[in-house]
Amino acid sequence: MIRLAILISGRGSNMLCLADAIEKYQINAVITLVISNKDCDGIALAAARGLATKVVKRSDFDNRLAHDADIASTIEECHADYVFLAGYTAVLGSVFVDQFAGKLINIHPSLLPAFKGLDTHQRAIDAGVKTHGVSIHLVNATLDEGPLILQASLAVAETDTAKILAGRVLQLEHQIYPFVLLSLAAQNVTLLPDEVIWHVKTLAAAPTDMQKILAPCVIWPECDLA
Ligand code: GRF
Repeated sequence: MIRLAILISGRGSNMLCLADAIEKYQINAVITLVISNKDCDGIALAAARGLATKVVKRSDFDNRLAHDADIASTIEECHADYVFLAGYTAVLGSVFVDQFAGKLINIHPSLLPAFKGLDTHQRAIDAGVKTHGVSIHLVNATLDEGPLILQASLAVAETDTAKILAGRVLQLEHQIYPFVLLSLAAQNVTLLPDEVIWHVKTLAAAPTDMQKILAPCVIWPECDLA
């Protein structure tokens, strides 16, 4: 059974999707704690759903190191195997990142390495790219640069505004993050501190509805099967 801690800062839709997927698809995983760095809609939604929650406010600490350290010990206390960042907006320091190397996963709304950082949808439109999407990656000390776990893409339409595009990408996010969790639970993928190893590059383990959405758009990372 995979024990999961989820870090959020905002509306929490990915966190809720993970919780829904665990229930709906009976994934061998449990969300042990949802942590946020501020009061936010997501933390209220997690609590309303019966998940354990904790708000660890940055303003209660002298510096980022102390804030990160408190979050880290909270995660250790709940014996989480993996930490999923789901809209956590603070940058985590290298001490934290090293402590959870190979266990710290982020979802980023672009096809990395394109559009690291913020405002990815507007920047994609401004750049005139034809393809956009979402990336799940291991977190390392450099922002949005860790090894890719999985991506999903879509074609940018001429009618897409940043808001429309964000909504379209979010639909993919809500499939791909649960799929990665499911793949970890099924041991179809192994995460090392600086490497992602897929043992099977197929969506076969996914439920049919998830497969239908991901099949046309999933991008497997360029790593050898093992
Ligand atoms: C998502 O777009 C995610 O990719 C990014 O932050 C957003 C969080 O949305 N990292 P939500 O809080 O999960 O709804």
